[in-house]
Amino acid sequence: MTQSRREFLRGSGAAALLGAAGGIGVPALAGGDEIITLHARPGAARLAPPDYPETRIWGYDGMVPGPTIRVTQGQRVRRRFVNALPQPTTVHWHGIRIENAMDGAPELTQSPVPPGADFVYDFAPPDAGTYWYHSHHRSFEQMARGLYGALVIDEPIGPEVDGDEVLLLDDWRLTNEAQIHESFGALHDWSHAGRVGNWITVNGEGAWSRESRRHERLRLRLANAANARIFSLALEHMEGWVVARDGQPLPAPVEAESLVLSPGERTDLIVDFVAGDGEEAFLVSREREDSYALAAFPLRGTLRQSRLPSPAPLPANPVPALGDLATARRATLRMEGGAMGGLRQAMLGGRMMELRDLVEQGRVWAFNGLAEMPEEPLFAAGLGETVRLTMVNATAWPHSMHLHGHHFRVIGSDGAPGPLRDTLLMDRDEEAEIAFVADNPGDWLLHCHVPEHSVAGMKTWFRVA
Ligand code: C2O
Ligand code: CU
Repeated sequence: MTQSRREFLRGSGAAALLGAAGGIGVPALAGGDEIITLHARPGAARLAPPDYPETRIWGYDGMVPGPTIRVTQGQRVRRRFVNALPQPTTVHWHGIRIENAMDGAPELTQSPVPPGADFVYDFAPPDAGTYWYHSHHRSFEQMARGLYGALVIDEPIGPEVDGDEVLLLDDWRLTNEAQIHESFGALHDWSHAGRVGNWITVNGEGAWSRESRRHERLRLRLANAANARIFSLALEHMEGWVVARDGQPLPAPVEAESLVLSPGERTDLIVDFVAGDGEEAFLVSREREDSYALAAFPLRGTLRQSRLPSPAPLPANPVPALGDLATARRATLRMEGGAMGGLRQAMLGGRMMELRDLVEQGRVWAFNGLAEMPEEPLFAAGLGETVRLTMVNATAWPHSMHLHGHHFRVIGSDGAPGPLRDTLLMDRDEEAEIAFVADNPGDWLLHCHVPEHSVAGMKTWFRVA
Protein backbone atom coordinates (compact mmCIF):
# COMPACT_ATOMS: atom_id res chain seq x y z
CA MET A 1 0.00 0.00 0.00
CA THR A 2 1.34 3.40 -0.85
CA GLN A 3 0.59 6.75 0.63
CA SER A 4 -1.04 8.96 -1.93
CA ARG A 5 0.58 12.29 -2.60
CA ARG A 6 -0.62 15.15 -0.51
CA GLU A 7 -0.30 18.50 -2.13
CA PHE A 8 -0.07 21.86 -0.51
CA LEU A 9 -2.53 24.53 -1.42
CA ARG A 10 -1.27 26.56 -4.31
CA GLY A 11 -1.42 30.31 -4.56
CA SER A 12 -1.63 32.96 -1.89
CA GLY A 13 2.08 32.56 -1.17
CA ALA A 14 3.75 32.45 2.17
CA ALA A 15 1.73 33.83 5.00
CA ALA A 16 2.81 36.80 7.00
CA LEU A 17 5.21 35.61 9.62
CA LEU A 18 4.27 35.66 13.23
CA GLY A 19 6.02 38.66 14.60
CA ALA A 20 4.97 38.10 18.14
CA ALA A 21 7.32 35.37 19.30
CA GLY A 22 9.42 37.67 21.41
CA GLY A 23 8.70 40.50 23.70
CA ILE A 24 6.09 38.95 25.94
CA GLY A 25 6.96 38.93 29.57
CA VAL A 26 6.58 35.61 31.31
CA PRO A 27 6.05 35.99 35.02
CA ALA A 28 8.67 34.37 37.17
CA LEU A 29 7.58 31.60 39.48
CA ALA A 30 7.77 32.12 43.18
CA GLY A 31 10.61 30.17 44.74
CA GLY A 32 9.63 26.75 46.02
CA ASP A 33 6.54 26.62 43.85
CA GLU A 34 6.33 23.07 42.60
CA ILE A 35 3.40 23.31 40.26
CA ILE A 36 4.39 22.17 36.79
CA THR A 37 4.03 24.98 34.29
CA LEU A 38 2.37 24.78 30.93
CA HIS A 39 3.27 27.58 28.55
CA ALA A 40 1.26 28.51 25.52
CA ARG A 41 3.81 30.02 23.17
CA PRO A 42 4.96 30.28 19.59
CA GLY A 43 7.28 27.55 18.37
CA ALA A 44 8.28 25.62 15.30
CA ALA A 45 7.38 22.09 14.26
CA ARG A 46 8.42 19.77 11.50
CA LEU A 47 4.95 19.07 10.16
CA ALA A 48 5.94 18.80 6.49
CA PRO A 49 8.57 16.65 4.75
CA PRO A 50 12.26 17.60 5.15
CA ASP A 51 12.42 19.53 1.88
CA TYR A 52 10.02 22.11 3.35
CA PRO A 53 10.81 24.60 6.08
CA GLU A 54 9.60 24.00 9.63
CA THR A 55 6.14 25.38 10.36
CA ARG A 56 5.75 28.24 12.82
CA ILE A 57 3.03 27.13 15.24
CA TRP A 58 1.51 28.09 18.55
CA GLY A 59 1.78 25.22 20.95
CA TYR A 60 1.69 24.21 24.59
CA ASP A 61 5.31 24.37 25.68
CA GLY A 62 5.94 25.46 22.10
CA MET A 63 5.25 21.98 20.71
CA VAL A 64 2.67 20.24 18.56
CA PRO A 65 1.04 18.41 20.13
CA GLY A 66 1.66 19.87 23.57
CA PRO A 67 3.05 17.60 26.28
CA THR A 68 0.91 14.57 27.06
CA ILE A 69 -0.50 15.07 30.52
CA ARG A 70 -0.94 11.74 32.24
CA VAL A 71 -2.15 10.85 35.74
CA THR A 72 -3.78 7.85 37.34
CA GLN A 73 -7.49 8.05 38.09
CA GLY A 74 -7.90 9.73 41.47
CA GLN A 75 -4.80 11.93 41.15
CA ARG A 76 -5.04 15.66 40.57
CA VAL A 77 -3.93 17.53 37.51
CA ARG A 78 -2.27 20.82 38.45
CA ARG A 79 -0.67 23.18 36.00
CA ARG A 80 0.39 26.79 36.26
CA PHE A 81 -0.68 27.88 32.85
CA VAL A 82 1.33 30.79 31.45
CA ASN A 83 0.17 32.67 28.40
CA ALA A 84 3.14 33.63 26.25
CA LEU A 85 0.98 34.16 23.17
CA PRO A 86 0.20 37.55 21.65
CA GLN A 87 -3.52 36.92 22.35
CA PRO A 88 -5.62 36.10 25.41
CA THR A 89 -6.45 32.42 25.75
CA THR A 90 -7.89 29.71 28.01
CA VAL A 91 -7.32 25.98 28.34
CA HIS A 92 -10.28 23.61 28.14
CA TRP A 93 -9.95 20.01 29.36
CA HIS A 94 -12.21 18.28 26.87
CA GLY A 95 -14.41 15.50 28.21
CA ILE A 96 -13.36 15.83 31.85
CA ARG A 97 -16.33 16.02 34.23
CA ILE A 98 -14.45 18.86 35.81
CA GLU A 99 -15.16 21.43 38.51
CA ASN A 100 -16.88 24.29 36.70
CA ALA A 101 -14.27 26.94 37.55
CA MET A 102 -11.57 24.86 35.82
CA ASP A 103 -13.48 24.32 32.57
CA GLY A 104 -11.73 27.10 30.64
CA ALA A 105 -14.91 28.40 28.98
CA PRO A 106 -14.31 32.14 28.47
CA GLU A 107 -17.93 33.20 28.37
CA LEU A 108 -18.89 31.25 31.46
CA THR A 109 -16.15 30.13 33.82
CA GLN A 110 -13.22 32.52 33.55
CA SER A 111 -12.00 35.55 31.69
CA PRO A 112 -9.36 34.76 29.09
CA VAL A 113 -5.81 34.83 30.43
CA PRO A 114 -4.14 37.93 28.94
CA PRO A 115 -0.72 37.76 27.29
CA GLY A 116 1.94 37.54 29.99
CA ALA A 117 -0.49 36.45 32.70
CA ASP A 118 -1.07 33.05 34.26
CA PHE A 119 -3.84 30.90 35.70
CA VAL A 120 -3.66 27.79 37.85
CA TYR A 121 -5.71 24.86 36.58
CA ASP A 122 -6.18 22.33 39.37
CA PHE A 123 -8.71 19.52 39.19
CA ALA A 124 -9.29 15.84 39.96
CA PRO A 125 -10.54 13.96 36.89
CA PRO A 126 -13.16 11.50 38.11
CA ASP A 127 -12.98 9.20 35.09
CA ALA A 128 -10.20 7.15 33.54
CA GLY A 129 -9.82 7.35 29.78
CA THR A 130 -8.58 9.34 26.81
CA TYR A 131 -9.18 13.08 26.93
CA TRP A 132 -7.46 16.11 25.49
CA TYR A 133 -6.90 19.76 26.16
CA HIS A 134 -7.07 22.70 23.80
CA SER A 135 -7.52 26.43 23.56
CA HIS A 136 -11.09 27.62 24.03
CA HIS A 137 -10.64 31.25 23.02
CA ARG A 138 -10.50 32.26 19.38
CA SER A 139 -10.19 28.52 18.83
CA PHE A 140 -10.87 28.98 15.13
CA GLU A 141 -7.38 30.49 15.07
CA GLN A 142 -5.69 29.10 18.19
CA MET A 143 -6.55 25.43 17.61
CA ALA A 144 -5.64 25.79 13.94
CA ARG A 145 -2.22 27.08 15.03
CA GLY A 146 -1.61 23.98 17.15
CA LEU A 147 -2.82 24.64 20.71
CA TYR A 148 -3.80 21.15 21.85
CA GLY A 149 -2.41 18.10 23.63
CA ALA A 150 -3.45 14.74 25.05
CA LEU A 151 -4.74 14.20 28.57
CA VAL A 152 -4.67 10.56 29.59
CA ILE A 153 -6.18 9.30 32.83
CA ASP A 154 -4.94 5.80 33.48
CA GLU A 155 -7.10 3.12 35.07
CA PRO A 156 -5.57 1.99 38.38
CA ILE A 157 -5.40 -1.44 36.74
CA GLY A 158 -5.35 -1.11 32.95
CA PRO A 159 -6.00 -3.71 30.28
CA GLU A 160 -3.28 -6.22 29.36
CA VAL A 161 -1.47 -4.72 26.39
CA ASP A 162 2.11 -4.64 25.19
CA GLY A 163 2.05 -0.91 24.55
CA ASP A 164 -0.14 2.18 24.68
CA GLU A 165 0.00 4.96 22.08
CA VAL A 166 -1.87 8.25 21.83
CA LEU A 167 -2.59 9.24 18.23
CA LEU A 168 -3.71 12.86 17.93
CA LEU A 169 -5.08 13.42 14.45
CA ASP A 170 -5.02 16.90 12.98
CA ASP A 171 -5.21 18.57 9.63
CA TRP A 172 -3.54 21.84 8.78
CA ARG A 173 -4.06 24.43 6.15
CA LEU A 174 -0.53 25.13 4.99
CA THR A 175 0.86 27.45 2.36
CA ASN A 176 3.32 26.11 -0.19
CA GLU A 177 6.03 27.30 2.21
CA ALA A 178 4.54 24.92 4.81
CA GLN A 179 3.34 27.85 6.94
CA ILE A 180 -0.08 28.08 8.54
CA HIS A 181 -2.44 29.79 6.16
CA GLU A 182 -3.73 32.97 7.79
CA SER A 183 -7.27 32.61 6.44
CA PHE A 184 -8.79 32.31 9.92
CA GLY A 185 -11.84 34.48 9.46
CA ALA A 186 -12.76 33.19 6.00
CA LEU A 187 -16.52 33.44 5.77
CA HIS A 188 -16.61 30.55 3.33
CA ASP A 189 -15.18 28.26 6.04
CA TRP A 190 -17.51 29.67 8.66
CA SER A 191 -20.61 29.11 6.55
CA HIS A 192 -19.60 25.76 5.02
CA ALA A 193 -17.68 22.81 6.48
CA GLY A 194 -15.28 24.82 8.67
CA ARG A 195 -11.52 25.19 8.21
CA VAL A 196 -10.61 21.95 6.47
CA GLY A 197 -6.88 21.64 5.92
CA ASN A 198 -4.63 20.22 3.22
CA TRP A 199 -2.02 18.45 5.34
CA ILE A 200 -2.69 15.72 7.87
CA THR A 201 -0.51 14.89 10.83
CA VAL A 202 -0.55 12.32 13.60
CA ASN A 203 1.16 13.60 16.76
CA GLY A 204 2.48 16.49 14.68
CA GLU A 205 4.16 14.22 12.13
CA GLY A 206 3.30 13.77 8.47
CA ALA A 207 4.43 10.14 8.54
CA TRP A 208 4.08 8.81 12.06
CA SER A 209 5.32 5.27 12.50
CA ARG A 210 6.18 2.81 15.24
CA GLU A 211 8.08 -0.43 14.90
CA SER A 212 5.97 -3.30 16.15
CA ARG A 213 5.92 -7.07 16.17
CA ARG A 214 3.59 -9.73 14.87
CA HIS A 215 0.81 -10.50 17.37
CA GLU A 216 1.82 -7.60 19.56
CA ARG A 217 -1.21 -6.02 21.23
CA LEU A 218 -1.49 -2.24 21.53
CA ARG A 219 -3.95 0.17 22.98
CA LEU A 220 -4.42 3.02 20.52
CA ARG A 221 -5.98 6.20 21.84
CA LEU A 222 -7.28 8.15 18.85
CA ALA A 223 -8.42 11.74 19.17
CA ASN A 224 -9.52 14.14 16.45
CA ALA A 225 -7.89 17.51 17.17
CA ALA A 226 -8.69 18.98 13.75
CA ASN A 227 -10.91 22.04 13.54
CA ALA A 228 -13.23 20.59 10.95
CA ARG A 229 -12.07 17.40 9.28
CA ILE A 230 -14.21 14.33 9.90
CA PHE A 231 -11.95 11.29 9.64
CA SER A 232 -13.13 7.98 8.21
CA LEU A 233 -10.66 5.43 9.49
CA ALA A 234 -9.89 1.82 8.81
CA LEU A 235 -7.32 -0.71 10.01
CA GLU A 236 -5.05 -2.64 7.67
CA HIS A 237 -3.11 -5.70 8.81
CA MET A 238 -4.27 -5.16 12.34
CA GLU A 239 -7.47 -6.34 13.95
CA GLY A 240 -9.08 -5.19 17.07
CA TRP A 241 -11.86 -3.79 19.15
CA VAL A 242 -13.26 -0.44 20.13
CA VAL A 243 -13.10 -0.42 23.91
CA ALA A 244 -14.03 3.19 24.71
CA ARG A 245 -15.60 6.25 23.08
CA ASP A 246 -14.94 9.77 24.33
CA GLY A 247 -13.00 8.34 27.26
CA GLN A 248 -15.84 6.15 28.52
CA PRO A 249 -15.56 2.34 28.33
CA LEU A 250 -18.05 0.43 26.21
CA PRO A 251 -19.88 -2.21 28.23
CA ALA A 252 -18.43 -4.79 25.83
CA PRO A 253 -15.62 -4.37 23.28
CA VAL A 254 -16.95 -4.03 19.72
CA GLU A 255 -14.99 -5.30 16.73
CA ALA A 256 -13.36 -2.36 14.97
CA GLU A 257 -14.05 -2.15 11.28
CA SER A 258 -14.50 1.31 9.92
CA LEU A 259 -14.52 4.20 12.35
CA VAL A 260 -15.69 7.76 12.01
CA LEU A 261 -14.00 10.34 14.21
CA SER A 262 -15.48 13.83 14.16
CA PRO A 263 -13.80 16.91 15.66
CA GLY A 264 -13.35 16.48 19.42
CA GLU A 265 -14.16 12.76 19.48
CA ARG A 266 -11.93 10.01 20.84
CA THR A 267 -11.90 6.27 20.29
CA ASP A 268 -9.82 3.77 22.23
CA LEU A 269 -8.86 0.65 20.34
CA ILE A 270 -7.14 -2.53 21.39
CA VAL A 271 -5.44 -3.98 18.30
CA ASP A 272 -3.31 -6.98 17.39
CA PHE A 273 -0.86 -6.93 14.48
CA VAL A 274 -1.72 -9.78 12.17
CA ALA A 275 0.60 -9.11 9.22
CA GLY A 276 3.75 -11.15 8.65
CA ASP A 277 7.21 -10.20 9.84
CA GLY A 278 8.56 -7.55 7.46
CA GLU A 279 5.11 -6.31 6.44
CA GLU A 280 3.45 -3.12 7.61
CA ALA A 281 0.17 -2.48 9.37
CA PHE A 282 -1.64 0.84 8.94
CA LEU A 283 -4.22 3.13 10.37
CA VAL A 284 -5.80 4.39 7.18
CA SER A 285 -7.86 7.48 6.41
CA ARG A 286 -10.42 7.09 3.65
CA GLU A 287 -11.56 9.99 1.53
CA ARG A 288 -13.66 9.37 -1.51
CA GLU A 289 -11.53 7.07 -3.71
CA ASP A 290 -8.35 7.97 -1.87
CA SER A 291 -7.05 6.25 1.16
CA TYR A 292 -3.77 6.89 2.83
CA ALA A 293 -1.78 5.79 5.81
CA LEU A 294 -2.03 8.07 8.83
CA ALA A 295 0.11 5.84 11.00
CA ALA A 296 2.35 2.95 10.00
CA PHE A 297 3.45 -0.01 12.08
CA PRO A 298 6.33 -1.82 10.34
CA LEU A 299 6.51 -5.32 11.80
CA ARG A 300 9.95 -6.48 12.86
CA GLY A 301 9.85 -9.92 14.40
CA THR A 302 7.18 -11.91 16.15
CA LEU A 303 6.17 -11.33 19.75
CA ARG A 304 4.04 -14.43 20.22
CA GLN A 305 2.96 -17.33 18.07
CA SER A 306 -0.80 -16.67 18.08
CA ARG A 307 -3.20 -13.89 18.85
CA LEU A 308 -4.31 -13.14 22.36
CA PRO A 309 -8.00 -13.77 23.17
CA SER A 310 -10.49 -10.89 22.99
CA PRO A 311 -9.95 -8.25 25.64
CA ALA A 312 -12.20 -7.80 28.66
CA PRO A 313 -14.16 -4.54 28.87
CA LEU A 314 -12.40 -1.65 30.58
CA PRO A 315 -13.61 -0.95 34.13
CA ALA A 316 -16.61 1.40 34.14
CA ASN A 317 -16.21 4.98 35.40
CA PRO A 318 -18.33 6.43 38.23
CA VAL A 319 -20.87 8.14 35.95
CA PRO A 320 -24.34 8.23 37.56
CA ALA A 321 -27.10 6.10 36.04
CA LEU A 322 -29.88 7.91 34.18
CA GLY A 323 -33.02 8.60 36.17
CA ASP A 324 -36.54 7.92 34.90
CA LEU A 325 -36.69 9.11 31.28
CA ALA A 326 -40.46 9.52 31.39
CA THR A 327 -40.29 12.27 33.98
CA ALA A 328 -36.95 13.78 32.89
CA ARG A 329 -36.63 17.51 32.15
CA ARG A 330 -36.94 18.11 28.41
CA ALA A 331 -35.34 20.66 26.15
CA THR A 332 -34.97 21.15 22.41
CA LEU A 333 -32.15 22.62 20.36
CA ARG A 334 -32.81 23.47 16.76
CA MET A 335 -29.72 24.09 14.64
CA GLU A 336 -30.16 26.32 11.61
CA GLY A 337 -28.21 28.36 9.10
CA GLY A 338 -25.04 27.93 7.08
CA ALA A 339 -24.68 27.78 3.34
CA MET A 340 -27.73 26.29 1.60
CA GLY A 341 -29.52 26.36 4.93
CA GLY A 342 -32.28 28.79 4.04
CA LEU A 343 -31.88 30.84 7.24
CA ARG A 344 -33.74 34.13 6.72
CA GLN A 345 -33.27 35.88 10.03
CA ALA A 346 -32.09 35.36 13.58
CA MET A 347 -31.71 37.31 16.81
CA LEU A 348 -28.42 39.09 17.44
CA GLY A 349 -27.79 41.64 20.19
CA GLY A 350 -31.48 41.66 21.06
CA ARG A 351 -32.59 42.49 17.50
CA MET A 352 -34.12 40.36 14.79
CA MET A 353 -31.70 40.61 11.88
CA GLU A 354 -31.94 39.70 8.23
CA LEU A 355 -29.43 37.18 6.90
CA ARG A 356 -27.42 39.82 5.04
CA ASP A 357 -26.87 41.80 8.25
CA LEU A 358 -26.03 38.65 10.17
CA VAL A 359 -23.40 37.72 7.58
CA GLU A 360 -21.88 41.16 7.96
CA GLN A 361 -21.47 40.42 11.67
CA GLY A 362 -19.93 37.02 10.88
CA ARG A 363 -22.97 35.17 12.22
CA VAL A 364 -24.29 32.56 9.85
CA TRP A 365 -25.72 29.91 12.17
CA ALA A 366 -28.41 29.97 14.82
CA PHE A 367 -29.45 27.84 17.78
CA ASN A 368 -33.17 28.18 18.50
CA GLY A 369 -33.25 31.34 16.39
CA LEU A 370 -30.33 33.02 18.20
CA ALA A 371 -27.05 33.73 16.42
CA GLU A 372 -25.12 34.30 19.66
CA MET A 373 -24.76 33.01 23.20
CA PRO A 374 -28.14 33.57 24.84
CA GLU A 375 -28.39 35.59 28.02
CA GLU A 376 -30.67 32.95 29.52
CA PRO A 377 -29.60 29.30 29.63
CA LEU A 378 -31.06 26.83 27.15
CA PHE A 379 -32.38 25.06 30.25
CA ALA A 380 -31.72 25.09 33.97
CA ALA A 381 -31.60 21.70 35.62
CA GLY A 382 -31.75 20.88 39.28
CA LEU A 383 -28.68 19.17 40.67
CA GLY A 384 -29.00 15.45 39.95
CA GLU A 385 -31.91 15.87 37.58
CA THR A 386 -32.04 13.76 34.41
CA VAL A 387 -32.28 15.85 31.25
CA ARG A 388 -33.54 14.77 27.81
CA LEU A 389 -32.36 17.06 25.06
CA THR A 390 -33.62 16.76 21.51
CA MET A 391 -31.23 18.20 18.93
CA VAL A 392 -32.41 18.87 15.40
CA ASN A 393 -29.82 19.53 12.72
CA ALA A 394 -31.87 21.60 10.29
CA THR A 395 -28.77 22.60 8.30
CA ALA A 396 -27.10 21.18 5.21
CA TRP A 397 -23.90 20.32 7.11
CA PRO A 398 -22.72 17.80 9.68
CA HIS A 399 -21.96 19.14 13.17
CA SER A 400 -19.95 17.69 16.01
CA MET A 401 -21.97 18.63 19.08
CA HIS A 402 -20.08 18.78 22.38
CA LEU A 403 -21.55 19.01 25.87
CA HIS A 404 -19.32 20.35 28.65
CA GLY A 405 -19.00 18.94 32.15
CA HIS A 406 -21.08 15.79 31.59
CA HIS A 407 -21.29 12.65 29.53
CA PHE A 408 -24.57 11.78 27.84
CA ARG A 409 -26.21 8.79 26.19
CA VAL A 410 -27.97 8.87 22.85
CA ILE A 411 -31.50 7.50 23.13
CA GLY A 412 -31.93 4.91 20.37
CA SER A 413 -35.03 4.59 18.22
CA ASP A 414 -36.11 1.74 20.51
CA GLY A 415 -35.88 4.08 23.48
CA ALA A 416 -32.78 2.43 24.89
CA PRO A 417 -29.85 4.62 25.94
CA GLY A 418 -26.55 3.98 24.12
CA PRO A 419 -22.98 4.26 25.39
CA LEU A 420 -21.63 7.35 27.14
CA ARG A 421 -20.36 10.16 24.89
CA ASP A 422 -19.34 13.80 25.20
CA THR A 423 -19.32 14.64 21.49
CA LEU A 424 -21.85 13.59 18.89
CA LEU A 425 -21.60 13.84 15.12
CA MET A 426 -24.98 14.84 13.70
CA ASP A 427 -25.52 14.55 9.99
CA ARG A 428 -27.48 17.04 7.94
CA ASP A 429 -31.20 16.77 8.67
CA GLU A 430 -30.54 14.37 11.51
CA GLU A 431 -32.41 14.51 14.78
CA ALA A 432 -31.00 12.99 17.95
CA GLU A 433 -32.09 12.75 21.52
CA ILE A 434 -29.53 12.64 24.30
CA ALA A 435 -30.01 12.12 28.02
CA PHE A 436 -27.72 12.81 30.95
CA VAL A 437 -27.72 13.34 34.68
CA ALA A 438 -27.06 17.00 35.46
CA ASP A 439 -24.92 16.26 38.48
CA ASN A 440 -22.15 18.81 37.94
CA PRO A 441 -23.09 22.26 39.27
CA GLY A 442 -22.32 25.32 37.19
CA ASP A 443 -22.86 26.95 33.82
CA TRP A 444 -21.79 24.75 30.91
CA LEU A 445 -21.35 25.15 27.19
CA LEU A 446 -23.06 23.16 24.48
CA HIS A 447 -21.64 23.91 21.05
CA CYS A 448 -20.51 22.63 17.71
CA HIS A 449 -16.87 21.58 18.00
CA VAL A 450 -16.03 23.06 14.62
CA PRO A 451 -14.81 26.42 15.97
CA GLU A 452 -15.72 28.22 12.74
CA HIS A 453 -19.31 27.18 13.41
CA SER A 454 -19.43 27.93 17.12
CA VAL A 455 -17.95 31.41 16.69
CA ALA A 456 -20.52 32.09 13.98
CA GLY A 457 -23.51 31.22 16.14
CA MET A 458 -23.50 27.53 17.11
CA LYS A 459 -23.02 27.95 20.83
CA THR A 460 -25.34 27.89 23.83
CA TRP A 461 -25.20 27.04 27.52
CA PHE A 462 -27.15 25.41 30.31
CA ARG A 463 -27.21 25.75 34.05
CA VAL A 464 -27.02 23.06 36.72
CA ALA A 465 -27.79 24.26 40.22
CU1 C2O B 1 -13.27 20.52 23.09
CU2 C2O B 1 -16.00 23.40 24.19
O1 C2O B 1 -14.59 22.04 23.57
CU1 CU C 1 -20.83 22.66 13.14
